[in-house]
Amino acid sequence: MAATNPGVRSPTPADPTAISFESVSKTYPTRSEAVSALDGVSFRIDKGTTVAVVGPSGSGKTTLLNMAAGLDFPTSGSVKVAGILTSELQREPLQKFRNETVGVVFQQFFLIDHLSVFQNVSVPLIPREVSSREKSKRILDAIAKVGLANKADRLPSELSGGELQRVAIARGLVGDASVILADEPTGNLDSKKGSEIVDLLVAESREHKKTVLIATHDLRVLDHVDGVIRLEDGRLSKIEGTGISA
Ligand SMILES: Nc1ncnc2c1ncn2[C@@H]1O[C@H](COP(=O)(O)OP(=O)(O)O)[C@@H](O)[C@H]1O
Ligand SMILES: [Mg+2]
Repeated sequence: MAATNPGVRSPTPADPTAISFESVSKTYPTRSEAVSALDGVSFRIDKGTTVAVVGPSGSGKTTLLNMAAGLDFPTSGSVKVAGILTSELQREPLQKFRNETVGVVFQQFFLIDHLSVFQNVSVPLIPREVSSREKSKRILDAIAKVGLANKADRLPSELSGGELQRVAIARGLVGDASVILADEPTGNLDSKKGSEIVDLLVAESREHKKTVLIATHDLRVLDHVDGVIRLEDGRLSKIEGTGISA
């Protein structure tokens, strides 16, 4: 890269990689033993690719997503997202990374009970320096995208499980991050609604060239994505598809 771009010091703009894991291991100490949640996991995902992370419960999917989100860090190895080495981020850049570089859809939603759908979806935009009119527009767009335009004023307690899931997805999309990380986004949905959600995430990737990682044990997701990472007991057992390599 340096040879073709002499003197250019900014991160290589032509780098096609959105996410890379290099020999990532994660060990959690517990009272009885050290649990190895990830063990020597390496892969590279190109920008604009949709990838499913599959494996049985306990295989390390959430741990992998949390690392890509900058919510957790490797015990050894390195994680790079959008050219940023997460372990090198200090407090403020780390907040900015979590807020702007990645959009996260949590397995347990983490919606705030006393806030409306609109207010919950607005949360990632709070620290952004954008006019309130522009914020409102983005929030309403994200809510409409997940099909909840007529329920923006509801509280979480007034929604079904599937609707809560969609609010969590709208909140993950509203910040317009280049990397979307969704943990079991179809977990609470029947198969028709589940595939609608996956189609929505895939469309977001196709239309806006976003990189989307979907952790799931729902094998139907595999029909919709470009690539697959298979985990077994924290180890990468297989990589398949396009836009992804070992
Ligand atoms: N904070 C933690 N402390 C101890 N063990 C953990 C912690 N988080 C995850 N684990 C363990 O790491 C392994 C992988 O967990 P996880 O990433 O949640 O898997 P998955 O999302 O595929 O179900 C499991 O054995 C789990 O019990
Ligand atoms: Mg999980």
